[in-house]
Amino acid sequence: MLKEKILKNLNEQITAEHYASNLYLSMSSWCTAKGLDGAARFLNLHSREELEHMHRLINYVNETGSQAIIDAIPAPPNSFKDIRDIFEQTFKHEVHITNMINKLVELTLAEKDFSSFNFLQWYVAEQHEEEALFKGILDKIEVIGLDGRGLYMLDQEIAKLCNTKQ
Ligand code: FEO
Repeated sequence: MLKEKILKNLNEQITAEHYASNLYLSMSSWCTAKGLDGAARFLNLHSREELEHMHRLINYVNETGSQAIIDAIPAPPNSFKDIRDIFEQTFKHEVHITNMINKLVELTLAEKDFSSFNFLQWYVAEQHEEEALFKGILDKIEVIGLDGRGLYMLDQEIAKLCNTKQ
């Protein structure tokens, strides 16, 4: 069984991963509506990844004999300024998730819960990858720009990422 404080934080992480999945799904839908099929596919795949992150946490909590809580999540935004706005928000959100994971890791050490500490190492590595992934897209946006054929090229570049990370 997990200590109460750790269980509470793991359950909050479950909710955060669930929200991230819906946020990226909403962004994917916006991209589809704007004809940005590459970005739409990338964000859709990433939304599914976030669900996997959520399920991994649920399984861990339940394996310890504690109960994973499936809580309410707020509706994500469904309107965005442009694709730059979308990827600025995804990067910001990933930094937020990283901060949550770091706090959880700190807590497991303080509480001497080495099993949870070990479990969370996967998320520490994953967050490093995700921040780098989204930062890389922001860099592409800076280099390619959104004017003229830039937006089309950018969408093609983002589509290529579907075959690598995801
Ligand atoms: Fe599961 Fe992208 O953080």
